[in-house]
Order: sequence, then structure tokens, then C-alpha cells
Amino acid sequence: MKAGLLCVAALSAAATAQPHRRHRHHVKRDVVVVTDIVVATTTAPAAVVYVDGNGNPISTSYVGQPASYPTTASSPPSSTTAYTPPPASTPKSSSYVAPAPPPTSEAPAASSYSTPDTSTAAAPASSSASSSSSGSGLANTGYTISYSPYNSDNSCKNQTQVDTDLEAISDFAMVRLYGTDCNQTATVLSAASAKNINVFAGVYDVTQVESEVQDIIDAAKGNWDSIHAVAIGNEGVNNNIYTVPEVVSAIGTARSKLQSAGYTGNVVTVDTFVAIIANPELCQASDFAAANCHAFFDGSVTAQDAGKFVLGQAQRVSEACGGKDTMITESGWPSQGDTNDQAVPSQQNQIDAINSLKSAFSSNLVLFSAFNDYWKQNNAGTYAAEHCWGIMGNAPS
Ligand SMILES: *[C@@H]1O[C@H](CO)[C@@H](O)[C@H](O)[C@H]1NC(C)=O
Ligand SMILES: *[C@@H]1O[C@H](CO)[C@@H](O)[C@H](O)[C@H]1NC(C)=O
Repeated sequence: MKAGLLCVAALSAAATAQPHRRHRHHVKRDVVVVTDIVVATTTAPAAVVYVDGNGNPISTSYVGQPASYPTTASSPPSSTTAYTPPPASTPKSSSYVAPAPPPTSEAPAASSYSTPDTSTAAAPASSSASSSSSGSGLANTGYTISYSPYNSDNSCKNQTQVDTDLEAISDFAMVRLYGTDCNQTATVLSAASAKNINVFAGVYDVTQVESEVQDIIDAAKGNWDSIHAVAIGNEGVNNNIYTVPEVVSAIGTARSKLQSAGYTGNVVTVDTFVAIIANPELCQASDFAAANCHAFFDGSVTAQDAGKFVLGQAQRVSEACGGKDTMITESGWPSQGDTNDQAVPSQQNQIDAINSLKSAFSSNLVLFSAFNDYWKQNNAGTYAAEHCWGIMGNAPS
């Protein structure tokens, strides 16, 4: 077993087996190996963006990320227009307040979440134990946490396991999912609604939007009370998996199908902050701007400054989207992995980064991720940290 395979605690031998999931590109978040450079441009303080001949970003690299830089780029056709990312706005005063939740939000005020459902009387003890073990001094109420219900061997977690996991994150306002495989919309909805947690559902494969939306409709069974938003895709434009028009079209398909089934909530696409700023059509088609942003991949940002950095990027997204409400749909810090210049993975830095993020945002923030994700494939391109983003440590199930 290689050193560094396990983030925090010992795990079963199953962690050594890493067959590929159907959704193996789950493992790739903000980092893309560039294979198809037409024009390479640079300059956002946070990232280097590689674009195609139409100025659409086809990938993003972050400063200090040598593994992802192309060593050579093919000569750009003379007719192409180099894309120049918009200049970074200087973060305004520290009094910047994250935009309020979208008007259709059904998220109650944070205090509503502090009253446990009577049917889960045992939850507060275990959740407060988990919270204190995460070392975070700031409350989780008001924030969302991302969650993927897979075992280390890539098998699906069953309802009992999902119930156990959600108990450990029951003080969060909402849980974010990425797809509909493993019957996860149904299992998580069942566990979450019992604990008064909202669900940010997800369609993973934009080309399968009809069937994945149908999965969500089947899971909701006509009761949409707990579903705050449905995301169509995750970083698909950033990762050059889908075109902007494909995603925009899929949002429209999803919205009308969901509305026919009685859902009137938010439909969005999630992409990286870089891809959204470069392609505002993505947020124009969404009911709010939904951007993933990890200070860790920047390389010039310490854990303690993660919140300030991400808040600055959220402002840029909001401006690019005409002032639209903006949610940071992923942000976190790994507890273990390779150092990225100023960004050092460690348990203490993870705690500091999460606290920094919470200090910067009062809401509209999805912390990434609930538990260490041993089902992912670790790789050097993401600093051998893929397994180790779980802010609650290893999943209890
Ligand atoms: C759920 O999975 C756990 C862990 O594999 C197992 O122990 C349990 O029996 C399963 N429960 C059901 C109801 O299948
Ligand atoms: C999906 O999960 C729900 C909630 O636990 C359950 O009622 C349903 O039977 C499950 N469906 C399948 C196909 O496993």
C-alpha cells in the first residue's frame, strides 16, 4: 500500500481496489490535462485558460500546477482570436455580503435547522460529535455540503448507509449530489427530508438529461419541498466534455420536464468559476450562477486566505453574470496530498480553510466534501489529494 493512500484513519483493504466508475470523470475537478490546444492564453490571477478558436475555454490550469501545463501548443491558426479573461476585479471591502439565496429558495433561516426532527432524536449527539471532530469552530447551519454515496470499492451505498452518513452532516442546511446513479436521489431525499436537510440534486451526464431528470422526478414522487435546486452537469465546459450550447439546451430540456412534473425551483448548470466567467451564457441560462472554486488549486493562496480568495472569485462570477445571485457550489481543502506552492494539504489547514470560507460566506456556499472519497482515483495532477477532501473525515457508514 502506498504511503499517502489513506487520509486520516485506517480504512479497509477495499481502499486499494479502485476500479473505474461509470462516472470516472468524477475524479477530475478543476484540473484538465490539455490535449487540444488551439490557442493558449493566460492571465487571470487564478488560472491559465486554454481556449479554442472561438474563444471558448477548453481547459483551465492553475498557477503552480506543472502537471497540467502543455509543454507545446500547436501553432494557432492566424484567424483565431485569443481569449482574454476579464480582469480580476479588486475584491471590495470586507463588508461584501454574499448574495441572498435565489427568490425561489425554500431554505428556511438557519435557526430553523437547529430544531431536530423528532424522528431523529439521536442525530444531534452524533452530529455534534462529528462536528467537533472536524475541528471547525463555526456552525454548519446555513451551508451546503457535497456528498457522493459510493463505497471505497465503487459500489453503491444502500439506504441504511446513506441514513448513517447524513446523520453525521445533519447540521448542514443542504446536501449537494452530482448524479442520479445508485438511486442516490431517492436514498438521499429519504434521509435528508427526515432530517430537514434540503437537497441540491444533480444530473451528471448532460447527454442523458432526459433520463436523469426522470430519475429525479421518480425520486421526488411529486413532493418537491426538499429540492432546492437541480444542477445539469458539473464542470463539463471547463473539462471540454460539453459545449456551451449543449449545456444551455440541456438546461432548457430539464427545466421544462421538471416543470411538467410540478417542480418550480431552481435549475442551473455548475461549472468552474473560470468557465462561467468566460461563458456567461451558462449562468444566463441558470436560475442562479453556480460556480466551483477551490483556492487550493491556485497555488498562491494559503489555507487561511481561502475564504478571501473564493469570495473575490464569487464577485467576479456575479459581475460576469450581470449581478445574478451566485452560489459557490464547491470549495474545500484537502487534509493530505502534495503541496501546491503556498497551498499545503494538512488536517489543520483544512480546518483553517473551511473556517476561512465560512467567515467569508454566510450562505451560498457548498463545502467540498462531506467525507473522504476513497472511490476516486488518486492522481498526481490533482496533487494526490483526491481522496482527502472530506471535512468530516471518513464516512461513518
Ligand atoms: C447496507 O450495506 C451495509 C454495508 O455493506 C450492510 O452491512 C447492510 O446489511 C446493508 N443493508 C441493507 C438493508 O441492505
Ligand atoms: C430507491 O430508494 C428508495 C428510497 O429508499 C426506495 O424506496 C426504492 O425502492 C429504491 N429503488 C431502487 C430501484 O432501489
